[in-house]
Amino acid sequence: MAERLEDIAARMVAKGKGLLAADESTGTIGKRFKAIGLESTADSRRDYREMLFRTDEAMRNYVSGVILYDETIRQKAADGTPLVKLIEAAGAVPGIKVDTGAKPLALRPGETVTEGLDGLRERLAEYYEIGARFAKWRAVIDIGPGRPSHDCINANAHALARYAALCQEAGIVPIVEPEVMMDGPDADHDIDTCYKITEWTLKTVFQELYYAGVSLEGMVLKPNMVVPGSKSQKAASPEEVAEKTVRVLKNCVPSAVPGIAFLSGGQSEVAATQHLSLINQLGPLPWAVTFSYGRALQAAALETWAGKPENVAAAERALLHRAHMNSLAATGAWTT
Ligand code: 13P
Repeated sequence: MAERLEDIAARMVAKGKGLLAADESTGTIGKRFKAIGLESTADSRRDYREMLFRTDEAMRNYVSGVILYDETIRQKAADGTPLVKLIEAAGAVPGIKVDTGAKPLALRPGETVTEGLDGLRERLAEYYEIGARFAKWRAVIDIGPGRPSHDCINANAHALARYAALCQEAGIVPIVEPEVMMDGPDADHDIDTCYKITEWTLKTVFQELYYAGVSLEGMVLKPNMVVPGSKSQKAASPEEVAEKTVRVLKNCVPSAVPGIAFLSGGQSEVAATQHLSLINQLGPLPWAVTFSYGRALQAAALETWAGKPENVAAAERALLHRAHMNSLAATGAWTT
């Protein structure tokens, strides 16, 4: 019998564990590789992901699930084992990014709507067969002069709700990810602007999820934290970030949602860990609150690896360390 959505969601946000976002598209991972002078090929991408998923101690103890990209979910390790099997063998849940990217929103310069609904029912059925038990769709909300528009928030929230409903129909837990961007061409906004836009976005998303009949018990929310824009003149203390993030979530996210797993969005590794820990220290909170980090989990591991087989052990230690610190943060136990 198919596992219940609630049970999959509970595994994804199990105490002291979080998600490894390794779902960079081929274009995005290419940029990350280029930054360390590495050529991006199907094999180098496979080698890198295999190194991450074979970090057994991190995977077993601190990683509840891994978000994959279409190429990766079909790839095999060098010894022929499907990467999905490596993840399952470590006790983690395989997941899949199913959106096809943020595309320019018509008549709204500088804004995007995330696409990927066409054929999604069929793709979800195939991913389920391959082993995916959760999916991810990321909506992008950019802050700038006149942005975001109502149209941008509404179109993205509606698409997220349609995606989430299709996932649940397929027995797959949707990660609902509306990202209010901390960087971007005009990211000089202050933390209170981020608060207001995050509030507006989350209110709209949960309204659309309700209209679409999505079961809140069978989803995971992946939001941004409330932070100043990366070009803001006004810094915010880690305590203020935690306090405002908790406040907006309490105001917008029903307690029926089992878990919240943050994106890192361009925060440094240590900042993302510290913020998560401070947020959990403000508990008890009505949901499990953990990480679903990409860059903030992988940065040191990728840099250490640098594409060289002789660096694999050191890179795995870097991933283990960061995953351990985020695991502590997921219960509020990490301190400086
Ligand atoms: P970052 O943590 O690097 O923002 O990536 C998480 C993610 O999955 C974005 O969609």
